[in-house]
Amino acid sequence: MSSNVIAIDGPAASGKSTVARALSERLGIPYVSTGSLYRALAWKMLNRKLDPAAISAEELAVFLADTSIACRRPEPQAPLDIEIDGVFPGGKLQTAEISAAASKVATYPEVRTWLLDVQRSLAGKTRIVMEGRDIGTAIFPDAKYKFFLTASPEVRAKRRLLQSGRPFDRQTLDTVAREIAARDEQDRSRKTAPLRQAEDAVCLDNSGMDLEQTLQFILETIQRKDILMGKETVLQYRVPYADTDQMGVVYYANYLKYFEMFRTEMLIAAGESYQKMEEHGYSLPVIEAVCRYKSPAHFEDILSVTGCVAECKGVRVRIECRIHRGDTLLAEGYTVHACINRDGRPVRVPATISGLMTEKE
Ligand code: DC
Repeated sequence: MSSNVIAIDGPAASGKSTVARALSERLGIPYVSTGSLYRALAWKMLNRKLDPAAISAEELAVFLADTSIACRRPEPQAPLDIEIDGVFPGGKLQTAEISAAASKVATYPEVRTWLLDVQRSLAGKTRIVMEGRDIGTAIFPDAKYKFFLTASPEVRAKRRLLQSGRPFDRQTLDTVAREIAARDEQDRSRKTAPLRQAEDAVCLDNSGMDLEQTLQFILETIQRKDILMGKETVLQYRVPYADTDQMGVVYYANYLKYFEMFRTEMLIAAGESYQKMEEHGYSLPVIEAVCRYKSPAHFEDILSVTGCVAECKGVRVRIECRIHRGDTLLAEGYTVHACINRDGRPVRVPATISGLMTEKE
């Protein structure tokens, strides 16, 4: 079973925090900046006059054994925040000194292992946005939604300088951009948990995008994934008089038509279309259809149709479909299709369809 985590990873100043926070507000779900965990440890080390760059293995073991860290709400309605030894350091974690110390702290494998449980304990039934460097690779390799945000060093340098609020010239911009590029190289090549994109993450270079465009892209990607996992209604349909029979209920054969309407919409929602597939020389004739009828539908009922690509083997694909009226399941079933080419010969199901198959919960 995969975790209900929206992982947002990427290099420094790629806009992760801003995007993750805005995303959590839009979706009304919690948000955690995992960098704050490393920052909180760095804050405590500096308070204890320990040097994060030169701490010995013994000192580090004692330090961790003597530390309790959690991600909690300081007050019931407040956002999640980092609590270390019963204290919420909040804004004190955002100084340049803490940033530098945190990047040292993050290089210790013992620290990373120690923080694993804290981070993993945050995943639950409800979705959560988690932002960091290794959420999609090490903390939640099974996260349902993974994004890797990046932008060119110049754009990131500009964002960082604008954030500081101080005026800057071209030379400063170039210097900061060079520093960022060097830091990227260091992060990617470091031995412990190097920064890398998870293979199944959606990479977004947002150099030419503003916050709203980045958010829209992420929201649409999440929605598409939900559709493909059969969690989202793809089609709403008001039953016309023509669909009913003499008993005043939807004629049983029409459900297969609804299944087909669903397949068409699902492909379009996923950025494909059946017509495009045919233009590429593939057809998917139905070779089996199953429908179980649970409860009748009537004239003017509004039907919600959901489903997914459930199985893809060689030349066959099975597509499931469910039809609800409100919370009531009216019918469910599936169709099996054989994939054929223009000559009518069976061929492997194209990646455009097999790629839609998603692990089900
Ligand atoms: O995102 P940030 O600047 O708050 O992160 C602080 C430091 O922690 C930064 O040097 C990267 C590191 N970090 C990490 O190694 N892994 C994470 N999941 C999050 C942050």
